Amino acid sequence: MRLAVLASGKGSNLAAIANAIARGELNATIQVVIYNNPAAGVVQKAEHYGIPTVLLNHRTFASREALDTAIIETVQAHQADWVIMAGWMRRVTAVLIDAFPRRVLNIHPSLLPSFPGVRAVEQALAAGTKITGCTVHYVELVVDSGPIIMQAAVPVLADDTPATLQARIQVQEHQIYPAAIALAGQAQLTAAE
Ligand code: GRF
Repeated sequence: MRLAVLASGKGSNLAAIANAIARGELNATIQVVIYNNPAAGVVQKAEHYGIPTVLLNHRTFASREALDTAIIETVQAHQADWVIMAGWMRRVTAVLIDAFPRRVLNIHPSLLPSFPGVRAVEQALAAGTKITGCTVHYVELVVDSGPIIMQAAVPVLADDTPATLQARIQVQEHQIYPAAIALAGQAQLTAAE
């Protein structure tokens, strides 16, 4: 699998995927990291692993579709054929989804379909739910919808803050994202047979 990782944040999921590849648990290469926020910490993570980075600052594009077109061109220029959204804080359009059918994945910090959208960890705390977690799913047009590939449950503790809960969710994210990517790759191979 030749992956393009899309990230807006600190890149801990990028690191988890790169580590899983290095350990031989995921048969893949990360061809490029695309980021939209010039201050994103993911750049240093990518450089640490020797992965090329491309900044596509959403502010410089006239529309979501124009940004997605640039993403497609960048993914293809780096010979990648899977799009792995790892904390990509932009809504994507049909332009991107249709360019890579069943090859665009996302990770979300809740047990979908509960708590889609932004601030999922805060939403779970506010609802008083006792179990939350994380979900890897295929990306469809509606944000945080799409068939679920893998989930992990995380208990909510009485004294949790958004920060402590998110930290425990991220431990699970780092386990399931590489495993879910491998599963999606396997599923596509099986479907092609
Ligand atoms: C993750 O918690 C993911 O669920 C959410 O954004 C966060 C990205 O974290 N969509 P990182 O940049 O991979 O550390």
